Amino acid sequence: MPQLKARDGGAGASARVGAFTLLAHVLAVAAVALVLLWCIHFRGGLALRSHDKQLIFNAHPVLMLLGLVVVAAEAILCYRSLPWATPQLVSRDARKKAHLALHAVGLALGGLGIYAVFKFHVEAGIPNLYSLHSWIGVTTISLYALHWLTAFVTFFFPGASPATRRSAVPWHALLGLLVFALAVGNAQLGFLEKLTFLQAPPVRLAKYGAEALLVNFTALVVLLLGVAVVVATANVDSTRYTAM
Ligand code: HEM
Ligand code: HEM
Repeated sequence: MPQLKARDGGAGASARVGAFTLLAHVLAVAAVALVLLWCIHFRGGLALRSHDKQLIFNAHPVLMLLGLVVVAAEAILCYRSLPWATPQLVSRDARKKAHLALHAVGLALGGLGIYAVFKFHVEAGIPNLYSLHSWIGVTTISLYALHWLTAFVTFFFPGASPATRRSAVPWHALLGLLVFALAVGNAQLGFLEKLTFLQAPPVRLAKYGAEALLVNFTALVVLLLGVAVVVATANVDSTRYTAM
């Protein structure tokens, strides 16, 4: 069985979880602001339909980051939320519904982001699915959709037996975090790939210029967001280790 537990344990763990949850919320807002600043201010804006095909591409990083990383992170943190959101204030049932709904929104935004980049490739005459980023990307969104469907059927409707749910939940949490980590890792590949294109001819973006630094810094914020979500969610179980 995986050692991740879906519930928090102990006052120390609570404080750690609270701090990392708060950090994740701040990094999530920063990631959205930075990717919008890049795509709107430096890259000219976003569109799903335009004569300027680059604007259609620009919708891709914004939608992917918003859906599979930022909204997904907020969905995962639903059960932790903020340190002062006590069980009396927000019921478990409400958290479960918010978790499910936010993941659905994340998936829809991610789906739209994939549509945008395929549309860009087709309209600009660029081949599809030639890069590591694109292969991991298709795998990630497919696993995300599959994970959502499996969880919906197991925990919501029609719902498995209490015993099955109990044994499935740690696997659900572990596999959910892995899919999330794949999305964060693939966003890193995406930023790197796009920056490499922009630094090559004809654009030849300056290596130490403001835009290059912004793209690298955005990717760093996304990476730290991923770390904060994993640390806030994964419980450290000291009873697991026997050799010290
Ligand atoms: C792609 C979609 C999803 C992902 C990535 C995901 C991920 C996660 C993660 C990482 C946790 C652990 C949270 C924590 O320990 O604080 C979790 C918990 C849970 N999720 Fe999901 N989830 C998804 C969809 C769903 C859906 C559709 C349901 C249906 C109701 C669901 C039900 C639950 C339940 C019941 C828990 C246990 C919470 C607890 O008891 O503490 N999840 N999920
Ligand atoms: C986080 C989740 C992401 C997923 C799941 C994802 C998925 C994909 C997929 C499936 C393609 C292939 C489209 C095709 O072949 O027609 C693609 C292309 C592309 N994506 Fe992403 N993407 C993500 C984030 C990003 C980000 C943040 C950037 C940053 C700029 C980015 C940049 C690119 C670039 C430059 C391409 C075109 C070149 C290529 O096909 O590799 N992606 N993406």
